[in-house]
Amino acid sequence: MTAHRSDLKRQLLEQARKRTAPRAASPNGSASAAHATATPVAERFTRFDAHPGYQQLAMLRQGAEQLGLKDPFFKVHEGIAGATSVIQGTSCINFASYNYLGYSGDPRVTQAAADALTRYGTSVSASRVVSGERPIHHELEQAIAKAYQADDAVAFVSGHATNVSTLGYLLGPKDLVLHDEYIHNSSLVGAQLSGAKRMSFTHNDPEALDALLSRHRHQFERVIVVIEGLYSMDGDIPDLPRFIELKKRHQVWLMVDEAHSFGVMGATGLGLHEHFAIDPTEVDIWMGTMSKTLSGCGGYIAGNKALVETLRYFAPGFLYSVGMPAQVAAPSIKVLELMQQEPERVENLHTISRYFLQQAKAHGMDTGHSIGAAVVPIIVGSSPLAAHLSHTLLEQYHINVQPILHPAVPEKSARLRFFLAHDHTQAHIDQTLDALATLLAQAQT
Ligand SMILES: Cc1ncc(COP(=O)(O)O)c(C=O)c1O
Repeated sequence: MTAHRSDLKRQLLEQARKRTAPRAASPNGSASAAHATATPVAERFTRFDAHPGYQQLAMLRQGAEQLGLKDPFFKVHEGIAGATSVIQGTSCINFASYNYLGYSGDPRVTQAAADALTRYGTSVSASRVVSGERPIHHELEQAIAKAYQADDAVAFVSGHATNVSTLGYLLGPKDLVLHDEYIHNSSLVGAQLSGAKRMSFTHNDPEALDALLSRHRHQFERVIVVIEGLYSMDGDIPDLPRFIELKKRHQVWLMVDEAHSFGVMGATGLGLHEHFAIDPTEVDIWMGTMSKTLSGCGGYIAGNKALVETLRYFAPGFLYSVGMPAQVAAPSIKVLELMQQEPERVENLHTISRYFLQQAKAHGMDTGHSIGAAVVPIIVGSSPLAAHLSHTLLEQYHINVQPILHPAVPEKSARLRFFLAHDHTQAHIDQTLDALATLLAQAQT
């Protein structure tokens, strides 16, 4: 559209807006008096395209266009996304899915979903508290509780909503949420919703947490420490035994988000407690998601009876939201069963992840603090470079990896983030790292 035509369109829209602006009612019911005195509102507060979010998006798109890059987000995977995936009609090596053990797309898991679908239909239509409860919900929660040797577990329809609702409900204005500085957005939003005071401590630094607890614990009633089992930006893990020691000493709750560590950490994928060989009941709240290894959708909280019952009856994202559809619950139950029968998948994931890390280091690439367990970043230090590498790897080499750009990380930490799966091969990795090394060398010249 030419500048002249777009000006004309704007004028026409403005005239139409003035003609159709609703009249505010005056206290005595006369609309016209209120209309005459209504204070004009700046247009930027009435238009979605003036919203800061939209403006930021427009700026990013303009930048990408100038660099000749496609939008790296919302890529369409045309089939099952695992170690490989079809994108733009072409089979690619895929490092952008959380299908760590390859169970999403496994025929046995798909069959479990199909059976549940046939038996229960596509939706449970209501909150489980009223008429959404099905036997399959109980089965799933019992299987999750067993994985944590916990009294019970409760399943929410979204992983994000699990953290929002759990933190939002359990804590209040007299309480404190202390979290790792790299904690996921869902925990931040939950903490904000709760109205509790919120403080962050340096990433994976129990000593920084200890100092904050020593200074502030006594000023609050309930205090909760929130950490993750495997940080998905960096691929590193917390020193869980040390966090447990601190939580006991300062008499606070410890919550561990296992979105990425369940299925990945430990010899059979049972998560961080298995990795450290600690009694899982030492952690007050285990949280995780069904969307990753468990090949479904939703989130869970596992813990003691009082915690789980309280959430089941009062957490708003559970109480006021629909129950999980049966065909979404069934795959996760099946995966929990298969994981116990097939520990070799976890072992393969560990082996291939370590191989990726070693080879990346051998190429002189910066892998940050990754321990080489399913998540390995390659830090390239510039958002345009990360976007360029992701774009070129896909277009020229059919390798799919997401760039992580500022402001998701500081500009100097912009990166490519590789998610490994149990069925990635050494050939996939050699091919990928050779291509990346070539592109990095070209970028330096
Ligand atoms: C650490 C963490 N917690 C919670 C979530 C939210 O889970 P979901 O995407 O299943 O809603 C994610 C999502 O990736 C996550 O990485």
